[in-house]
Amino acid sequence: MTTTDALLRFDEVNVTTGGTKRLQNLSFAINRGEHWGVLGLNGSGKTTLLKVIAGYVWASKGQVTSWQGTYGKIDIQQLRQKIGWVSDSLDDRYRTKMSHTALEVVLSGLYASIGLYESTSQRDISHAEHWLDFFGISHVKHQPYGQLSQGEKKRALLARAWIAKPTLLLLDEPCTGLDVKGREEFLSTLEGLLQLDDAPTLLYVTHHLEELPSSIENVLLLKNGEILQQGKKFNTLTADNIQEAFQVNADIIWENERPWLVVSNS
Ligand SMILES: Nc1ncnc2c1ncn2[C@@H]1O[C@H](COP(=O)(O)OP(=O)(O)OP(=O)(O)O)[C@@H](O)[C@H]1O
Ligand SMILES: [Mg+2]
Repeated sequence: MTTTDALLRFDEVNVTTGGTKRLQNLSFAINRGEHWGVLGLNGSGKTTLLKVIAGYVWASKGQVTSWQGTYGKIDIQQLRQKIGWVSDSLDDRYRTKMSHTALEVVLSGLYASIGLYESTSQRDISHAEHWLDFFGISHVKHQPYGQLSQGEKKRALLARAWIAKPTLLLLDEPCTGLDVKGREEFLSTLEGLLQLDDAPTLLYVTHHLEELPSSIENVLLLKNGEILQQGKKFNTLTADNIQEAFQVNADIIWENERPWLVVSNS
């Protein structure tokens, strides 16, 4: 596949809001089935990047192109129905709606909405129950979302994203708030999902290198809203690049293709 038929392409994208430069001159192309990690310090522009992709923030300059066409010319709501998005901001929106059960949260993924605005069929409910079961949370399906544990919430949001059969899956620090066991379970569920034939292309945002599932082969390193490095993870996640991106003295240890950051104080 060439860059011209990439699933997603940014050409010199800038985002400036109220005088703040949030993204500067971003150019990259992601091909179908090519999973990417997006890494960078707090405020480096990771979430903004995902918001541009989901059409919630618009490029002030440059061009964004998806498999459905160029942003500005395509129906963004239609595109969003094919983009799964798991983030804390989504979690916050649900937290304020305590009455939504886990089942309703998952069902709402079918409509790319927070509430259930369309009539729900028994088939949809069975479908949602299947994914609740797959993600190991069917025992809490009638519980209000606000009462779920962090791990159960993450799984509910992932099931919500998954049920719509997304073409592109955006995960924004999905392991925040999980303990080690919960994190490893979540990551291994994700790894399993990525092996499925109809798996979406994944963009995984994190501060933590060791979270990158082994299926993620490519990395985008952001610093101050700019791309510091991009490419294959083994070439990109070098001690020098990480020290520059994260501004700490550190080394990287690879274990079974999984990178671990070891910080030194010297
Ligand atoms: N609505 C907004 N208006 C103006 N500036 C914003 C807005 N949202 C974010 N920013 C700024 O854009 C920059 C990038 O923010 P962003 O949330 O994308 O960072 P991030 O890499 O996701 O950080 P974190 O790791 O803390 O989640 C920050 O300087 C932030 O203050
Ligand atoms: Mg963020």
